[in-house]
Amino acid sequence: MTSGSWEEFFAIHLPPPDFEDNRSLLKEFCERHEHYGNKIVLVTSGGTTVPLEHNTVRFVDNFSAGTRGSASTEYFLEHGYAVIFMHRQKSLEPFTRHFTGQKLLDMLDIQERGPNTTITVKPDSVDVLAPILLRYKAAHAAGAILHVSFTTVSEYFWLLRAACECLANLGPRAVLYLAAAVSDFYVPKDCVPTHKIQSESGPPIIQLHLVPKMLAPLVNLWVPTAYVVSFKLETDENLLVPKARAALEKYKHKMVVGNMLQTRHHRVIMVTPDATQEIILTREEVHAGVDIESSIVLEIVRAHAEHLRGAGAGAAAGGADWAPREPR
Ligand code: PMT
Repeated sequence: MTSGSWEEFFAIHLPPPDFEDNRSLLKEFCERHEHYGNKIVLVTSGGTTVPLEHNTVRFVDNFSAGTRGSASTEYFLEHGYAVIFMHRQKSLEPFTRHFTGQKLLDMLDIQERGPNTTITVKPDSVDVLAPILLRYKAAHAAGAILHVSFTTVSEYFWLLRAACECLANLGPRAVLYLAAAVSDFYVPKDCVPTHKIQSESGPPIIQLHLVPKMLAPLVNLWVPTAYVVSFKLETDENLLVPKARAALEKYKHKMVVGNMLQTRHHRVIMVTPDATQEIILTREEVHAGVDIESSIVLEIVRAHAEHLRGAGAGAAAGGADWAPREPR
């Protein structure tokens, strides 16, 4: 089955209820950082859902936990970028990702002395917590990060287009890092029942349709001079590089980061029109908890600096800690 056009998708699927609020936040964030001459990266993270009912009880989902996007956000902040972190609700987020499950509570002590209860960080946890807390506080104090969230594929696309509209003014200073796992198949709005599908009616027959690829209007129309990085996930190694190359040829963006489902946390292949570069973490690095995202982001920061030089936009990438620039 062929997919409808992207225009059709937006015509059929209405914006989510909180859309105008998010659009205002995006606009304010981009205008502020544009004013200061900063670079902004849009990081998309986590998987989108496809509801099977309007009053949604069931939906089609995917595996993405948001590890790639949340970790990468921290490294972009370290390199001086302002970050729009566009993430699936309840997926991993920068900084707090280090303390999932019981980890945070295990770091705390509590003393109850009558009416005075004090909570302290265990001495051996201070070294772990302090650097993360400091980076978190610095990013938020500087207004360097904006969180916006989605759940369904249609919410994702509405936010994506709104973010692009705001980023367009930054021209080549904008980076798009599209790490979200976006649904490829969906049930168009008109075919979705209002209420919970009843089992008494027998097994439902649900026909999925192809979701239009938003990379096409994104690269050609919405942010034509930005540095756009897409991701490609495969489970068959033989398809990975050919499909990454095919995407570059088709959409004419700057880079595809290829990864395999099983090895995505320690191996990626970065494909550009001129080169293919593999990043692999050693066994020791994996055990030491090194994030592969630090290397991925470093390469993209370098490539973006090159892109800026090519565009004559001056501002080279770099900087150890986030610091807002003075107004121009
Ligand atoms: O979150 P983690 O658990 O850490 O996992 C990270 C990841 C494996 C999800 C991430 O590294 C990754 O590979 N993300 C992309 C997954 C993928 O293969 O997407 P895709 O082949 O469906 O799409 C390729 C590109 O096209 C994506 O960058 C996407 O933004 C874009 N796309 C996808 C669908 C669509 N309808 N329009 C699009 O523009």
